[in-house]
Amino acid sequence: MNTTPPALSADLETGLRRLKLASMRRLAPELLVTAKTQRWTPEEFLRTLVEAEITARDQSNTRTRRRLAGFPITKTLDEFQVAASSIPPATFHYLASLEWIPAAENICLIGPAGTGKSHMLLALGEAAVQAGYRVRYFTAADLVDTLYRGLADNSVGRVITNLLRNDVVLLDELGFAPLDDTGAQILFRFVAAAYERRSLGLASHWPFEQWGRFMPEHTTAVSMLDRLLHHCHVTITDGDSYRMRQAKTNGGTPLKN
Ligand SMILES: Nc1ncnc2c1ncn2[C@@H]1O[C@H](COP(=O)(O)OP(=O)(O)O)[C@@H](O)[C@H]1O
Ligand SMILES: [Mg+2]
Repeated sequence: MNTTPPALSADLETGLRRLKLASMRRLAPELLVTAKTQRWTPEEFLRTLVEAEITARDQSNTRTRRRLAGFPITKTLDEFQVAASSIPPATFHYLASLEWIPAAENICLIGPAGTGKSHMLLALGEAAVQAGYRVRYFTAADLVDTLYRGLADNSVGRVITNLLRNDVVLLDELGFAPLDDTGAQILFRFVAAAYERRSLGLASHWPFEQWGRFMPEHTTAVSMLDRLLHHCHVTITDGDSYRMRQAKTNGGTPLKN
């Protein structure tokens, strides 16, 4: 039989509300009953309440960090089939360890369309969020737009400082659209500001020697690569497009995205 436990006394209710201990407040009435009937020690009772509050806060902080990260979709490392990818298992495990984040090292994923670059970036981002890191995901075009807006109202320095409050900034689809001179300059400014301070995770379908194709100034491309690659784990994703392979095994259903 399920009886409703007696409500907390008003002073406890108010006190827990004031201290913003919402989970404790919610669980306390029922736990008081359980603790009495099961003869918990006072310490057990207190520990159960404290642990519930901590778990709820951790979950709420993770949700907030996930929202702020701006992932367009959720991808996980568990869903990534290492065997179906050209990424060597040792490299995958190193990337998944996230050790490169506190070390302020960069990762670059380079390879043709459909080889899992975005999946890896997003999944590493999700893993980092769960590990307690602050993460921000952008397509390169969106980051450049954001920086451009900062240029318009003279706040680009502040925008960069705020972005670098994250532990890792993920930059996808670099080179999809060519950059103009100003775009390349502000992107360089961002990369230079992150250099040896924060991790950048980057994905592009252009091999490094062809970055001149989307950056108009050769020297900007070279200077940017110089900073990016100094402490960088480069991973080449290769082979057939995963999307194409799936489409073929589905008997050729039309491709989305
Ligand atoms: N090794 C893999 N294991 C599982 N799914 C994969 C793998 N590689 C790619 N995919 C899936 O294939 C699709 C295309 O991959 P994506 O990461 O977007 O490719 P890219 O960014 O390199 O163009 C996505 O739905 C992704 O989840
Ligand atoms: Mg992609």
